[in-house]
Amino acid sequence: MTAPKNEAPPLEAAALDALRAQAVEEIGGCSDLSALGELQRKYLGKQGVLAGWLARLPSLPPEQRPVLGQGVNRLKKELTELIAGRESALERAALESAMGGPFDASLPPAPQERGSLHPLTQVTREIEDLFVSMGYQVADGPEIETDWHNFEALNIPPDHPARDSQDTFYIRGPGRLVMRTHTSPVQVRALERLKPPLRAIAPGKVFRNEATDASHEHTFHQLEGLVVDKGVSVAHLISSMKTLLRGIFRRELEIRLRPGFFPFVEPGFELDARCPFCSTGCSVCKQSRWIELLPCGLVHPNVLRASGVDPDEWSGFAFGLGLSRLVMLRFGITDVRLLLSGDLRFLEQF
Ligand code: DAH
Repeated sequence: MTAPKNEAPPLEAAALDALRAQAVEEIGGCSDLSALGELQRKYLGKQGVLAGWLARLPSLPPEQRPVLGQGVNRLKKELTELIAGRESALERAALESAMGGPFDASLPPAPQERGSLHPLTQVTREIEDLFVSMGYQVADGPEIETDWHNFEALNIPPDHPARDSQDTFYIRGPGRLVMRTHTSPVQVRALERLKPPLRAIAPGKVFRNEATDASHEHTFHQLEGLVVDKGVSVAHLISSMKTLLRGIFRRELEIRLRPGFFPFVEPGFELDARCPFCSTGCSVCKQSRWIELLPCGLVHPNVLRASGVDPDEWSGFAFGLGLSRLVMLRFGITDVRLLLSGDLRFLEQF
């Protein structure tokens, strides 16, 4: 019986079947990537077994070629897919063993916690931008300060009663060092270093020996401001403070000045602003409709003198914004101790 047309002679077809069975078994049992590479070269490479089969085709009788050619090509495709599948299975197994567990590259990544700026940082940056736009520079000073800068140069001599309200932590050792009780010493440092005319603000941490409660903390933040130039007056002070308040609360707030005593300014004021949160009285303004925000005044001649600046030639104003308090007002925070608590439940809200 002759083979029907288009069918490979049984001998050749059987050999191809045997080859297929052997290749499938070898590939399926292959357990490492370099051996798999060998198998790929062996069967599918340029000098490989299947290439050999194709090379032999022209020598076969013409009626056998198509069937056998198709069979070889089918096998080539099948082995290519088999090897690719085996390869990715081996790669995955290697990755999983390196990662210590099953791994699915198509899964979405684990959500990443994103941090945010601390409310104090947010407000500080906002106010810095505002003042820089008005030609101020941002000055800095040490948190451990000399008694001279923190007190004496600010017209607070050793036995002055103003020291009582600013009890702080004293540093043991040589030199009379204190944790600064306010940002006002940066006024002195700025005057010493920069000389007038100058405009500067100085945000930063300050320290007091306080019994802590919801409105008192041993560490809090202030922002000092200082302008020294020729002919600076209370009018300049008031207009600058109005600009500051407009920048902070984003609208015009009525203000009032009350006399306030601070040894480093004369005259000194407590500047109050209309409560931005109510029109009839609320808990923030304690029903008074005013909030006390900005102690300020004209720089005392003794302060200028202490920094080597002639008070007959120069005058200036200064203010001390309670940054912590402002941040509390802005965000409705009711306990100052939260600000530096590092408590994530608090911080995540900003
Ligand atoms: N340094 C003062 C304090 O901590 C605040 C202050 C008051 C600063 C009046 C000033 C000022 O610059 O003019 O209590």
